[in-house]
Amino acid sequence: MSATTATSAPLLVFFSSVSGNTARFVDKLGLPARRIPLHGADGPLVVDEPFVLVTPTYGGGQGRGVEKGAVPKQVIRFLNDERNRRHIRGVISAGNTNFGDAFCAAGDIISRKCHVPHLYRLEIYGTQDDVDRVTDGLERWWESQSSMQSMAQ
Ligand SMILES: Cc1cc2nc3c(=O)[nH]c(=O)nc-3n(C[C@H](O)[C@H](O)[C@H](O)COP(=O)(O)O)c2cc1C
Repeated sequence: MSATTATSAPLLVFFSSVSGNTARFVDKLGLPARRIPLHGADGPLVVDEPFVLVTPTYGGGQGRGVEKGAVPKQVIRFLNDERNRRHIRGVISAGNTNFGDAFCAAGDIISRKCHVPHLYRLEIYGTQDDVDRVTDGLERWWESQSSMQSMAQ
């Protein structure tokens, strides 16, 4: 088993805008986490181990279709770097049901493009129920991923 497939806690990589809702949710999970910078001037984030991406959805309500602008540009830039993209294992998305069909569209897009499961959708900064479900589900799923990977080695 390599260092990256040990049954350690899942690493979360997240983006959150100035409103900070996603950051608040990630905080409540209490898992190791790294934040994709808001401003380009802060320099790029490069991650060299498996992670689950947590991202809000934007772009809705502009009459440009469900998917246009849904993935924050900072997240696109992060995933365009092959060094990061190769380590994504799943995506959790945040959004607001007021956006109808565009609810959590960013997670659907990333799941499709990166060929990883869309593990969970939550609204705004999530409820205690979301925190409990993600904590429990993510831990079990991560462990099953780790053992699958070690079997394949
Ligand atoms: C301009 C704008 C557009 C948004 N578009 C969508 C959308 O298309 N779909 C969705 O589910 N949520 C949408 N949201 C809701 C955000 O995803 C939600 O508020 C999220 O919690 C923001 O996370 P953050 O504070 O970490 O950036 C939008 C919010 C804003 C302000």
